[in-house]
Amino acid sequence: METVKIAQIAACEGREVELRGWLYNKRSSGKLHFLQLRDGTGVIQCVVFRDDVPPEIFSRCDHLGQESSLKVQGLVRREARSPIGFELSVRGVEVVQDALGYPISPKEHGIAFLMEQRHLWLRSSRPHAVLKVRAEVLKACRDFMEQGGFTPVDAPIFTPAACEGTTNLFETDYFDQKAYLTQSGQLYMEAAAMAFGKAYCLGPTFRAEKSKTRRHLTEFWMIEPEMAFCELAEDMDVAEGLVFYIVRRILERCQAELAVLERDLTPLQKVAVPFPRISYDEAVGLLREKGSDIEWGQDLGGDDETLLSAGYDAPVLVHRYPAAVKAFYMKGDPQDSRLALCVDMLAPEGYGEIVGGGQREDQLEVLEQKIDAHGLPREAFAWYLDLRRYGSVPHAGFGMGIERVVAWLCGLHHVRETIPFPRTMQHLYP
Ligand code: 4AD
Ligand code: MG
Repeated sequence: METVKIAQIAACEGREVELRGWLYNKRSSGKLHFLQLRDGTGVIQCVVFRDDVPPEIFSRCDHLGQESSLKVQGLVRREARSPIGFELSVRGVEVVQDALGYPISPKEHGIAFLMEQRHLWLRSSRPHAVLKVRAEVLKACRDFMEQGGFTPVDAPIFTPAACEGTTNLFETDYFDQKAYLTQSGQLYMEAAAMAFGKAYCLGPTFRAEKSKTRRHLTEFWMIEPEMAFCELAEDMDVAEGLVFYIVRRILERCQAELAVLERDLTPLQKVAVPFPRISYDEAVGLLREKGSDIEWGQDLGGDDETLLSAGYDAPVLVHRYPAAVKAFYMKGDPQDSRLALCVDMLAPEGYGEIVGGGQREDQLEVLEQKIDAHGLPREAFAWYLDLRRYGSVPHAGFGMGIERVVAWLCGLHHVRETIPFPRTMQHLYP
């Protein structure tokens, strides 16, 4: 007999097929068992009628525990009341493994309990929907980059030096030296941009974040494009293009998942290009009008980001922050030496910064001074300085945090639900 997936069930109407999966839920009434079977592609109701199956199979179904693994054979029938339009009239059930005492019942559990059970919780409809959206976001990232002529170049995880400041570095023993888990692939993408013109990496990055906010993980994924012969304005165009592409793609392909998550689609549908662009100067003025006590020179806090983005339907690009609050590699603004040619993109609906990037310092002497001024070891950056010795050009790029984007698109309160196995200060298990 043909084995099929639930997602393809509509093409099997009137045929006998085998489904393989797990018992999601069960209900019985006298002569009938209703088995909700899930197989990773969907959930279908399998109706076991006492007179259609051998008696031992019917009584076996009486005692099946939630999440028992099954092979179910039966006839695919159209059923108007089914959410997927079809159900299975069961002819046979093979129990692969009988699961007893599955800890996650359909009733409500607290988030702490569910996080401890994350390895099992992934099977439930909400986490499943979120991770499907995440998978589509990752695919959209790669598609957009490929269409734009970017070469994927993987950055290393073990690194000899800090990229995003020394306060949140994870240090590890590396034979007889120290290594650090990468905070960003950017510096390596700068090397790649000089080799390929346009390059990007997409992978995990690590920050020993001591902050327990709903936007911070210690292990998160970033896509980081980098472009040679590129300045800040074009960098912002690419960031805007990528984020808009992802929003449209998710609205197009993830309707079922967003419905499971009860995501209000209106705010996502309102996202249009071009995204608003304001300078840090303007942002501080707007924030003070809205009651923030931010002083010029301070970085925007999470609350400031929320306050600022509340004024827009689309993500807002805030450019030219004070150089003092930004990383060492940023190029100074030739119009105003206090500023850096950088940009942050703030998502609507209070989701905060989803993109950070900008133009890189391309002059050797200036970059050497910045490395010294930030108290960083020049030796570890010798290779990076080579990029300014041999054919230095204006170049720019950015990093977009995958989890922040997924949290926004799915309308989730906390980024921990957007990654299969979240790592935070409190979570290393499972
Ligand atoms: O602004 P960040 O720190 O920028 C960089 O790392 C640059 N080197 C990127 C580049 O230009 N190639 O981080 C970029 C993005 C943030 O905007 C945010 O979306 C996400 O990464 N991010 C985090 N996401 C989850 N948890 C954390 N702890 C994050 N820190 C940053
Ligand atoms: Mg940032």
